[in-house]
Amino acid sequence: MGFVPGRSSQTVLRDLLDRPIQDLRISVTDRCNFRCLYCMPLAEYDWIERSEILSYEEVERLARIFVDLGVTKIRLTGGEPLVRRDLHDLVARLSSLPRIRDLCLTTNGALLAGQVDALKQAGLRRINVSIDSLKPERFRAITQRGELGPVLEGLFAAKQAGLGPIKINAVIERGVNDDEIIDLVEFARRHGFAMRFIEYMDVGNANQWRSEKLVPKTEILDTIRRHYSFEELGRDQGSAPSVDYRFDDGAADIGVIASVSEPFCGTCTRARLTADGRLVTCLFSDTGHDLKVLLRQGQTDARIAGFIRSVWSVRGDRYSEQRFEALHSSQGYRPADHRKIEMISLGG
Ligand code: GTP
Ligand code: 5AD
Ligand code: SF4
Ligand code: SF4
Repeated sequence: MGFVPGRSSQTVLRDLLDRPIQDLRISVTDRCNFRCLYCMPLAEYDWIERSEILSYEEVERLARIFVDLGVTKIRLTGGEPLVRRDLHDLVARLSSLPRIRDLCLTTNGALLAGQVDALKQAGLRRINVSIDSLKPERFRAITQRGELGPVLEGLFAAKQAGLGPIKINAVIERGVNDDEIIDLVEFARRHGFAMRFIEYMDVGNANQWRSEKLVPKTEILDTIRRHYSFEELGRDQGSAPSVDYRFDDGAADIGVIASVSEPFCGTCTRARLTADGRLVTCLFSDTGHDLKVLLRQGQTDARIAGFIRSVWSVRGDRYSEQRFEALHSSQGYRPADHRKIEMISLGG
């Protein structure tokens, strides 16, 4: 599809399926202080060398180029973004970019309490915090290295600092935490957080995904409906992964991210930048496109923008739709047949 005339002075960059580039998910590190079983089950990975990690200057420069190409929302992710030193410096750089309507952070919360004021001051507007269980023992078992106490401390420190909305992300896995859906909803309602349930996905190459572990969106909503009534609000901007709902009594919102049972590739406007400067066009990609080499060769912004255009304009990714088709076909779906970049270097 290439370039389609759009806003008055600009051209809108669209891919082969007519999807514009609108969101940039920037991974600032592949390291994490947790080892969640569904994401990063192993103790060691092939970590990115320090010298290969983009500096904040380099990230800012690329972000500016993406903004010129149409990006209006930036999310910082990891690994765990708060293990990268002085993340607030990067937030300050990005918050001053023009045309950014949303600048947010996805974190496991463990280091949040000590950093939230600096992040807020630097211009961070909101955060999503992953909490899969409110039971300390279970939380420890799922994250392997995490403690619930400091995460809750970080969550409430963020509320105190005035970040908002604050969303809690819980990946629901059958037999692991599907008995906590209502407890999580009640916790979120009581404290004014938004609660989002995420279908367990087959990310990376080591997470042992099986379809039996999936708790589909319909089941999650049926469980909540037995206790509360709510109405559907739809997807933010029409393209967000989450379908959102509002309780009839107005106490908090909920959302469900149903990448497996109701894939949303048709409206996927998300580009991903890895910590070592590769542009990745799908969460389930097996390759990235090296932007760092262009930066470090001293190429101009125009040249780098041209390269990003050439990648995005031939993008045809629709992995979750293909998974859905395979799951419902006679041959079925085997995650091991598909090699993917590890989620830790993609930031989800
Ligand atoms: P909001 O901007 O607050 O709506 O956040 P978000 O849902 O876009 O981002 P977040 O980092 O909180 O991710 C929540 C879940 O959605 C994670 O499990 C991500 O892996 C998943 N997710 C985000 N983008 C995509 C996507 O493009 N495809 C798929 N399959 N999953 C995605
Ligand atoms: N399935 C679904 N969500 C996942 N996340 C990490 N691994 C998976 C998976 N296998 C989520 C985290 C975090 C977000 C960035 O991605 O829980 O909320
Ligand atoms: Fe770390 Fe987040 Fe992955 Fe857990 S889900 S291992 S906290 S990056
Ligand atoms: Fe986008 Fe790939 Fe996720 Fe589909 S599976 S929504 S194309 S990132």
